[in-house]
Amino acid sequence: MLRFLVLATCFGIATSEALLPCHVGRYMGFHLFDLRQYEDNYTFCTHLVLDHVRLIAKEGYQFAILDDKDAHFYEYFNATKAKHPELKTILSFGGPETESWVFSSWLKSGIDVSEFIRYATSLGFDGIDIAFFYPSAADKARFADFLNELRAHSKGRLIITATVSGDPRVIKNSYDVIPWIDSVDFINVQSYGYHDKKYRTGLLSPMFSSRSNNVMDTLDLWAKLGVPPEKIVMGVSSYGYGYLLDDPENNKVGAPAHLALPIHAWLPPGVIPYRDIHKVRNENTTDVYVEEGNVYYFVNETMWVSYEKPESIVFKMQFVKENDFGGAYINALEYDYQGHTGLNFPLLRAMKKGLAIEYDYPTDAPEIKTTPEPSYTICNPRLPIYYPWAPDLDDCKQYYYCDGIRPYKLSCAEGLYWDAIHKKCYYWNNNCMTHARWNITFG
Ligand SMILES: *[C@@H]1O[C@H](CO)[C@@H](O)[C@H](O)[C@H]1NC(C)=O
Ligand SMILES: *[C@@H]1O[C@H](CO)[C@@H](O)[C@H](O)[C@H]1NC(C)=O
Ligand SMILES: *[C@@H]1O[C@H](CO)[C@@H](O)[C@H](O)[C@H]1NC(C)=O
Ligand SMILES: *[C@@H]1O[C@H](CO)[C@@H](O)[C@H](O)[C@H]1NC(C)=O
Ligand SMILES: *[C@@H]1O[C@H](CO)[C@@H](O)[C@H](O)[C@H]1NC(C)=O
Repeated sequence: MLRFLVLATCFGIATSEALLPCHVGRYMGFHLFDLRQYEDNYTFCTHLVLDHVRLIAKEGYQFAILDDKDAHFYEYFNATKAKHPELKTILSFGGPETESWVFSSWLKSGIDVSEFIRYATSLGFDGIDIAFFYPSAADKARFADFLNELRAHSKGRLIITATVSGDPRVIKNSYDVIPWIDSVDFINVQSYGYHDKKYRTGLLSPMFSSRSNNVMDTLDLWAKLGVPPEKIVMGVSSYGYGYLLDDPENNKVGAPAHLALPIHAWLPPGVIPYRDIHKVRNENTTDVYVEEGNVYYFVNETMWVSYEKPESIVFKMQFVKENDFGGAYINALEYDYQGHTGLNFPLLRAMKKGLAIEYDYPTDAPEIKTTPEPSYTICNPRLPIYYPWAPDLDDCKQYYYCDGIRPYKLSCAEGLYWDAIHKKCYYWNNNCMTHARWNITFG
């Protein structure tokens, strides 16, 4: 029981300081809107991150040449920081604009980290983010040296972060995080983009799933690899992903389909910013809720769109709090401008709301200890038939198999804990009480 008391106290501390970095796309932001006009609507972001300075392989290795648009952005970031001193600005290097081999060859050539620092600080930024998604085996140690040197040379004056992959296979193969984790303030985990089949509909960001990669497994994996939970920042996508169904009659997850044409010329196929969702969705289109993943998609004749909406985001934020993760970032701010609700930044607001300490969350520790859910029975008749498991509220090492409403008590193997989300025994024990707090599966 002591564990719950301790956890409850930690939640309060962690959530009051939750990180909420807002990423802005360097190439796309200005196509869409002028940030300046709406800044009062998003200054509760803790960090404003400009994505990305491209690295290029020319003589001597260079950053991409500044053009007028960049200069515009840099000025804006600096001016905003002056107006809102609590908002920290970060310049991100790398990203998809930088080919992996270029990053590798920079590392191999023994990058001078002071170049990065000089570049970012001369433009007025408070920090540096390094977005390198596919370090090769040979890059692992150099990547660590690079981040460690960056930290050492910044002499405590800069925020240092890394934006990293959310694909479990890539995470395991490409990063060796222990040697560099102390050198970064936090990692932005790209926990979206799990629709990995080009010719089948897929969910963009399922929270959990037994069938595909998902947000929970990704964050768990980073934690398991040794990243302190408070340094893990969940990524939230403010764009949906659209497909054209091969057969409109077959519109389930995994149905044969092709990526939808880009909705704007400068976007890749499939990508539909939240601000444009209303163009393919009207009051006659119904959202389909996928319980396994707590996400939504909708179908409009031949168009199939997986997307994040405020409801799914609030749930994700509760998961962040529940597990004491550091916070969540939005990718990207400009896609969330003027959502179909007519409000600016509806998804960002949902993140803020979900992370807020007051939000629908039992903070009173003694109450958790002494008052079980009044209507709770071990085996709820509304349990989904494919998940006939229930947790033991008094002992996280045990769980129940439910045959209808009749419970059979079972124990996890040594060292494992029942996990109410995965519905299995797991090394990670913070989700043992989850259902009682979230009321998701047990109604
Ligand atoms: C959003 O920003 C605009 C312009 O600064 C301001 O007029 C409006 O009141 C803001 N809305 C909210 C909800 O903060
Ligand atoms: C950033 O803004 C500050 C004051 O707001 C100014 O003194 C400084 O010169 C600016 N730096 C850049 C690089 O624009
Ligand atoms: C389907 O999408 C089209 C635009 O692609 C839109 O005009 C139409 O209203 C949508 N229909 C429904 C039922 O949402
Ligand atoms: C929604 O369906 C109703 C009833 O079929 C129809 O009258 C209305 O025009 C539809 N709305 C849109 C935006 O297509
Ligand atoms: C779960 O649902 C029950 C019944 O609706 C309610 O009394 C309880 O407060 C809920 N728990 C939480 C944490 O929302």
